[in-house]
Amino acid sequence: MPGGMPNLQVNGERLWASLMELAQIGATPKGGVCRLAASDLDGQARRLFIRWCEEAGCTVRVDKIGNIFARRPGRDPHLAPVMTGSHLDTQPTGGKFDGAYGVMAGLELVRTLNDLGYETTAPIEIVAWTNEEGSRFSPAMVGSGVFAGVFDLAEGLARPDNLTGVTLGAELERIGFAGPEPVGGCPVAAYFEAHIEQGPILEAAGKPIGVVTGAQGQRWYEITVTGQEAHAGPTPMPRRRDALVGAARMIDAVNRIGHAYAPYACATVGFVRVSPNSRNTIPGQVFFTVDFRHPYDPVLSHLRQACQEAASAIGLEAEVKEFWYFPPTPFHPDLVAAVRNAAGAQGYAHQDIISGAGHDAVYMARVAPSAMVFVPCIGGISHNEIEDAKPEDLTAGCNVLLNAALDRANAAGPPSTFKPDGSR
Ligand code: GLV
Ligand code: MN
Ligand code: MN
Repeated sequence: MPGGMPNLQVNGERLWASLMELAQIGATPKGGVCRLAASDLDGQARRLFIRWCEEAGCTVRVDKIGNIFARRPGRDPHLAPVMTGSHLDTQPTGGKFDGAYGVMAGLELVRTLNDLGYETTAPIEIVAWTNEEGSRFSPAMVGSGVFAGVFDLAEGLARPDNLTGVTLGAELERIGFAGPEPVGGCPVAAYFEAHIEQGPILEAAGKPIGVVTGAQGQRWYEITVTGQEAHAGPTPMPRRRDALVGAARMIDAVNRIGHAYAPYACATVGFVRVSPNSRNTIPGQVFFTVDFRHPYDPVLSHLRQACQEAASAIGLEAEVKEFWYFPPTPFHPDLVAAVRNAAGAQGYAHQDIISGAGHDAVYMARVAPSAMVFVPCIGGISHNEIEDAKPEDLTAGCNVLLNAALDRANAAGPPSTFKPDGSR
């Protein structure tokens, strides 16, 4: 078989047990996880992950933006590694699987190779990227973004906490994860990321595997609406310049634009700060964010226009700032084919799919051939404490990940001497 795809199987029960143990760190009463980037809990999860990697015989490095790399050596130490992983941080009301699955799937892959005594040609590296979620520190995908040269290191470390202003760099220092290693600049032979789909497509199709061919583009805006603070009692309604009323109309406009550009557009206002946020003062200023996802740029002008119109109609000023953007990203055809072949070889029903979410693989695709494996999640729900997935689907995704990664890890040299009957 070209590159060697020996159709190995992971230990699904061990994968599930690791996911459940990890999910205890930051567990919420509703069964989810709150483990914000560079928080104490993130530090705890990172230390558990490192312990497990070291027990699996890996050598662990941490870079200056806190990304963790755990390397299982290959036969040829000069070859660039095949890398796989995702993130350990979560949304404030996150689930047990978003990110954690990709990291634990990488660990399970290594544990399986250890069980089998399987030596790959190239090294395998498991990675846990810093601050993928972009919830506490914005934007998202900062660790992989610095690794890929999208952000410089100083810019990444300076990202402020959205509520307190403390920087990502200071928090990484505090939790002991401002590592010594330089960020990026080293070749990666291939990057694979396993993830729950976070949408309803695979579940509706009854297929355990999504072969991710790419990710849609994303734009984030920051909008500041300025009116005038005034007393809630004596100020007659016609004389008010209420920034929150203006923001509410803009938020409605954002939502309507999302519907108007169906089926591809997604438009979300998820963060609002009202000033002075006092019950009996008319709000003078409102800051809010827009997360806008669409494959085509012209939609941007509609958003700006709608916001400006809503503001001027009631005598307000609105500043619309573009905060973050990445274009639609196709994944590498050879890696996508490796994922598809691995799914086929294992006999899993599968289909091609485009990611609606952002992932570290999107930035990794700029510096290394990259691809993703999706598995369904229950009801298509994610970024929610009730996020759930079936153990058998997670196992299927990990089996596909393992065999696709082996295909690449053996592509550079002679196939392993591994014998499927276990003899050495
Ligand atoms: C990542 O979680 C995203 O918002 O796409
Ligand atoms: Mn994720
Ligand atoms: Mn997420």
